Amino acid sequence: MSTVKDKSESETPHVLIFPLPGQGHVNTVLPLAELLALSGIHVTFLNTHHMHNRLLRFTGNIEARHPNLVFETFGDGILREPPVLSRKMKEGFAEVESQGMTKLRELCSERSGKPKVTCIIVDAFLGHPTSNLGDELGIPVIHFRTASGCYLWSYFNVPMLFECNELPIRGEEDMDRIITRIPGMENLVRCRDLPALCRGSREGTLDLDSVVFQAHQSQQAKAVLMNTFEDLEGPVLSKLRDHFPNLYTLGPLHTLLDFMKASKPPTSLSEEKDRTCMRWLDAQPPKSVIYVSFGSAAVFTRAQLMEIWHGLMNSNKRFLWVIRPNLVSEQDGGVLPMELTEGTTERHCIVGWSPQQEVLEHVAVGGFMTHSGWNSTLESIVAGVPMICWPLFGDQPINSRFVSEVWKIGLDMKDTCDRKIVERMVNDLMVERREEFEKSALAFAVLAKNSVSEGGSSYSNFYRFVEYVKSIC
Ligand code: UDX
Repeated sequence: MSTVKDKSESETPHVLIFPLPGQGHVNTVLPLAELLALSGIHVTFLNTHHMHNRLLRFTGNIEARHPNLVFETFGDGILREPPVLSRKMKEGFAEVESQGMTKLRELCSERSGKPKVTCIIVDAFLGHPTSNLGDELGIPVIHFRTASGCYLWSYFNVPMLFECNELPIRGEEDMDRIITRIPGMENLVRCRDLPALCRGSREGTLDLDSVVFQAHQSQQAKAVLMNTFEDLEGPVLSKLRDHFPNLYTLGPLHTLLDFMKASKPPTSLSEEKDRTCMRWLDAQPPKSVIYVSFGSAAVFTRAQLMEIWHGLMNSNKRFLWVIRPNLVSEQDGGVLPMELTEGTTERHCIVGWSPQQEVLEHVAVGGFMTHSGWNSTLESIVAGVPMICWPLFGDQPINSRFVSEVWKIGLDMKDTCDRKIVERMVNDLMVERREEFEKSALAFAVLAKNSVSEGGSSYSNFYRFVEYVKSIC
């Protein structure tokens, strides 16, 4: 990649990147920071102390590798606790917003002693206050949306769905009703497939009104960045562009960074002690193992975990299962069932955390049981691994619908956690319908890799975006 050597220091763009301090969000945005730094742009990455310390443990001295990439941190009080899963999540979000805005203001001030900030890239969850600050300081603000295009497009259409009476959802018996009016997604999704907040629940500080507001608010951003690619979500992206004309698809970002530099980006900001699972995988036959992992934030009841456990055991397939220590809900005592303690047998391996991208690319892995978080979905697509989806919150229910009905690269187990269904789906994915799923998964893996290769859509969009960043400098 070329560096901007012909410009004086003061003319070099300085991008301030502010992700939401949660694993799924930092994971997505860090490769973008590295890519921009590699392009000769000054980058400041703003994170909480807590997330930054986790990040350093697994990236080594990332700053030394990128002279243009500087880390700044904030976060006192409640933000010293782990994010998202904290019981005080609501207060945590409010603190990220208030302490983050104070720090942003300080970094953008001319008295900061740093190169002048020429643009801010912020997680869309923090888009509204940041856009206000940007307007006040005269600094362009760009929104980064870490989730899928189908998620943004669904929430964007929620007001229209209320107007034409397709929403609200009227209880459990209404869940299989087809939603007919979302442009580009007509008759594709049932009520149960809509992003989770459409069910009337809350997620921390988030309720339906606030995420719909955020979705529309991104129209005020100077540009919108998304971790997806054209060949995956083309029809939805073309609808989105009617409302977000300056939209850049750059995904899968971890693969784009892989392509642009030899070394891999970090994906795991949690414990890395579990490389033992790689040794266990090495001993398994090709495509014989189903990898089971539900991301960094999903929480289960003990009963649900036992249904999955029995389903996996009864399937007679080998499995590698990531059981985070905090996987059981606090209402359910927070204690893991005895069966799910870490260890290995000939048939299964249970670990507390795994190097997920490596696992998915391992020759022994033939399927992925996932919560359909967007990073996990993209990582599985890149590795060409078919999925069984057990979505829980946020974008996950709509992602899993697209996996099963649009891309046809897996099965959607949504809303029914039953050992018989788990057993049947594992057998369908790994045996009965294996060829069919493998064929479509491999086709999407090729498209994903093409999109980040020279001349591909995400590759070209990245360079267009770099030019845009320079033009607003
Ligand atoms: C959250 C939301 O759940 C998700 O729906 C949204 O799209 C992004 O924010 P998370 O739950 O963590 O993210 O899921 P996901 O997006 O899949 O990200 C998990 C990341 O952790 C992936 O990059 C995955 O590779 C990594 N991971 C997970 C590991 O490295 N090891 C593991 O054992 C499990």
